Amino acid sequence: MKVAVLNGSPKGEISVTVQYIKFIQKKFPQHEFKLINISHDIIKIEKNRKNFNAVIDEIKNADGVIWAFPLYVFLVASQYKRFIELISENGAEEAFKDKYTCALSTSIHFYDNTAHNYVHAVCDDLGMKYTGFFSADMDEIFTDNGRSILLKWAADFLAAIENKSPCARAHAPLVYNKFAYKPGKGSGKIDNSGLKIKVLADIEDENSNIAAMVKRFSEAFSHKIEVFNIRNIDIKGGCLGCIQCGFDNICIYKDGYVDFVNSNMRDEDVLIFAGPIRDRFLSARMKMYSDRGFFNGHVPLRTGIQVGFLVAGPLSQIGNLQEVIQAMAEMGENNLAGVVTDESADSKQVDALLDNLAGKCVDYAREKYMAPRTFLGEGGHKIFRDAIWARLHFPFAADYRYYESHGLFDFPQQDQRYLEFSNQMYEMIKDPKMKEMVRKMIKTEMIKGYQKIVETK
Ligand SMILES: Cc1cc2nc3c(=O)[nH]c(=O)nc-3n(C[C@H](O)[C@H](O)[C@H](O)COP(=O)(O)O)c2cc1C
Repeated sequence: MKVAVLNGSPKGEISVTVQYIKFIQKKFPQHEFKLINISHDIIKIEKNRKNFNAVIDEIKNADGVIWAFPLYVFLVASQYKRFIELISENGAEEAFKDKYTCALSTSIHFYDNTAHNYVHAVCDDLGMKYTGFFSADMDEIFTDNGRSILLKWAADFLAAIENKSPCARAHAPLVYNKFAYKPGKGSGKIDNSGLKIKVLADIEDENSNIAAMVKRFSEAFSHKIEVFNIRNIDIKGGCLGCIQCGFDNICIYKDGYVDFVNSNMRDEDVLIFAGPIRDRFLSARMKMYSDRGFFNGHVPLRTGIQVGFLVAGPLSQIGNLQEVIQAMAEMGENNLAGVVTDESADSKQVDALLDNLAGKCVDYAREKYMAPRTFLGEGGHKIFRDAIWARLHFPFAADYRYYESHGLFDFPQQDQRYLEFSNQMYEMIKDPKMKEMVRKMIKTEMIKGYQKIVETK
């Protein structure tokens, strides 16, 4: 059989992910795995229709398709996402329809779930027969078990093609409304004096709903806010994954991105991201902007601020993107003040929601309100912390310095209060009588500290 492998690594074949594919190829020599460097060649694929068509021909001629990609910032790399957008822009969906498919990623498991949900949904939208994913830790292949489960998974995929196994769609098709937002005039009454409010907007069309939402949001305030259209920033391309920035946060690109960020994105009190939905996420351009932020490593560009999102499109139908939005705010050590979409299809309602968000941003920024993090921020922090402490210490030396100087290596081994208490109790309950006594008291004892707070504070 012939399997087309869509390589999502911007590094082309000098890629960790590709080694997984090569290992599979070695163990299944009876099948051909045709590697297509999507992310590495995206500029050629986008600029020249012949190159795009050549990729599509490979898909048409294949018995199955593997989406093989590295995790990039909650998702796939922006270059890969751009290719996914080109499929519908160029009307090439038919080539994918009814093809057996699966997804293989390598990562450190930081939001591999959201990346796979995304790719799965894209496959469903293309009418493909999706059989499953394999989310390899980038070092999975070094263990006997890792190699063995990888091959089992690959064998299952090949068998599914051969046996024409049944596959079910997991993501319902998106329903778009054709609503054209007609904003009313903003009141200009929300007092934002002394606050820096900035909008990073993805505006391709000045007559779009998102352009109108950004304008109407700006009009809610008493003082001018800053709006940057990411389409106008000099960004030459997506992150190349060379990780040369790891030592000192110096990006190899010589375009305007880093200057833009350092001059404009280091002092705001409120940052609003605004953009339309493209397929199952924001646009590849927005993704490119966010991937390139990796020059700063695993360190947020700006912490302790209010973050909001204006989204045009069916966000309420894409729980995965909602999760990424919440996670972006929490991993940035920021507070998600709110999200406004145009889904109500009612201009007055959108106006009211924008005013409400504007008011909240100002109130929260003045009060320096930070909601507690959910699992998304707590779990994400622990993955980064452990990785930067050990396996990513090199080459991410700049991250290590930041984590060390900001007290982010907050391992529980240092938590003396809990350790001492737990150790004492652990010893105590070795005695059956004490154990029985503690068992009876545990419910009431557990809330005593809380009760004291309620009584005294
Ligand atoms: C720009 C960039 C962003 C990344 N984002 C993530 C991420 O969100 N989650 C994760 O687990 N790993 C992330 N990684 C790590 C890569 O996914 C991982 O190293 C992968 O194995 C690289 O594969 P490749 O060599 O095939 O490109 C990121 C790496 C880079 C360079």
